Amino acid sequence: MDKKVNVKVCLGTTCFVMGSANLQELIELVPKKYGDRVDVSGVPCLGLCSIDWEFSKAPYVKVNDDVVKEATVEKVLAAIESHLK
Ligand code: FES
Repeated sequence: MDKKVNVKVCLGTTCFVMGSANLQELIELVPKKYGDRVDVSGVPCLGLCSIDWEFSKAPYVKVNDDVVKEATVEKVLAAIESHLK
């Protein structure tokens, strides 16, 4: 059975202000790189910014159940790689 990796890029206000706009390239890049092994989508606030609420760890991306804090394209790709293993 193929396991799929599920990536959710937070596009809520806090994450957006903290840079998740840059992460939107993942939404194009990931399907090109991984085809249908990885699902990627933009989602509204994941609820994480209100927990960690000095906002210092935004933007957040979820890769399966793991939270990538202060997410960058590189960090998210690394997380995807580790989930594909
Ligand atoms: S805006 Fe991203 S976790 Fe709230």
